[in-house]
Amino acid sequence: MTAKLIKGTEIREKILNEVEEEVKKIKEEHGVVPGLVTILVGENPASISYVTLKIKTADRLGFNEVQDNQPEDISEEELLALIDKYNKDDAIHGILVQLPLPKHIDEKKILNAIDPDKDVDGFHPVNVGRLMIGGSEVRFPPCTPAGIQEMIVRSGVETEGAEVVVVGRSNIVGKPIANMMIQKGPGANSTVTVVHTRTKDLAGHCKRADILVVAAGVPGLVKPEWIKPGACVIDVGVNRVGEKISEKTGKKVAILKGDVDFDAAKEIAGSITPVPGGVGPMTITMLMKNTLKSLKFRLGIA
Ligand code: GUN
Repeated sequence: MTAKLIKGTEIREKILNEVEEEVKKIKEEHGVVPGLVTILVGENPASISYVTLKIKTADRLGFNEVQDNQPEDISEEELLALIDKYNKDDAIHGILVQLPLPKHIDEKKILNAIDPDKDVDGFHPVNVGRLMIGGSEVRFPPCTPAGIQEMIVRSGVETEGAEVVVVGRSNIVGKPIANMMIQKGPGANSTVTVVHTRTKDLAGHCKRADILVVAAGVPGLVKPEWIKPGACVIDVGVNRVGEKISEKTGKKVAILKGDVDFDAAKEIAGSITPVPGGVGPMTITMLMKNTLKSLKFRLGIA
């Protein structure tokens, strides 16, 4: 059996088209567009490429996009003052501080300074709490888990009563996706197990999963014999395992490998996300959706 491929690149296009349509409609009816600021501190190459892609996506959707680049040596006080400025700016509905931040800056302090109603990353403790409560309390689900849930739902995988096993307990993926899948409602209502580095029988738990979400950051961790035949496998891992020359551009590019042994797993799973082109493209997509949602809350139409 060869699994159905769950392509993030295709789902991204559908969602972005939906967002674009809604932005046009809101602009016509209310005369405003979503405003998003991205604060980038320093020149981390991975951060620059993430932010560049975000700007391109926001521009395509007709957002008011503000790119605020700051030097590596900006002080914590200066960065807090910048966040305060955007918290008070009515044209800005989403504030994203690109992580990681330089070591002299307390990341927690910075994230906690963002107005929770503009925290489109969903990292502020208020939004973590809102997510935990669930239902209408939820404002901004964090982007990667929100993307995972969209992929599961849009590929027609049944979540109701499903055994979901999440490998990894990070604040950005493992904990929030587990929390989202246990909630009442469509695309959830699952029975969730979270496994991690101290779990005794990793393979045994994975074998029970109807939906296996792997966010461990260990290339090829999940072996094909850990996968239940027909299961939906979501591979969040993006591990750089080497470099190659791109056939398209002739430039050096990273060789990326997921946390799942894809070639063998696709013969057992019912559906599976590839790496790259699976979960990756969904994160920025959901950031756009959250920014639109923020504007809708402001207008009282969410
Ligand atoms: N750095 C890597 N991924 C992310 C993300 O989703 N949000 C922010 N703010 N920084 C990141």
